[in-house]
Amino acid sequence: MRKTEPIIVGTTGEILEGEAMLVPAATTGTVPITVFHTETGKFYALDDRCTHGAASLAEGFIEDDIIECPQHAARFCLRNGKVLSLPATVDASTHQVKIDGGDILVYVGVPVAKVADAE
Ligand code: FES
Repeated sequence: MRKTEPIIVGTTGEILEGEAMLVPAATTGTVPITVFHTETGKFYALDDRCTHGAASLAEGFIEDDIIECPQHAARFCLRNGKVLSLPATVDASTHQVKIDGGDILVYVGVPVAKVADAE
C-alpha cells in the first residue's frame, strides 16, 4: 500500500488567525484546497470550491470553527466538512493538517477522522 506523503503548503506565520490561504491545484496535485487558521488557533483544510456552486471558500467568512460561503452563505464545519446550513446540501471534503515546527503540512485526499460538529 502506498503511503500518503503530506505536502508543505506554507508556514503558520503566513496565515493570520481568522484568515485563509488558497493552495492551487498545481501545488496540491488535485483540486484547489484552502487552509484556514481559525481564531481558536486551529488549522483546517477543505476543498476550496463550495459544494453548492463555484464560490471559493477562501473568500468566505470564518467564525469559530465554521466557514460561511461568500456567495449564498451556506456554512460548513471546518472540523469535519459537514454542511451546517442551506443552500448547500453536500459536505465539503476535508484534508488532514499537521503543524510541524512552523510548517503547515496537508495530507491531500486524507479526510479527517470523525469529530463532532462545530455547533
Ligand atoms: S456557492 Fe456556496 S452557498 Fe452557493
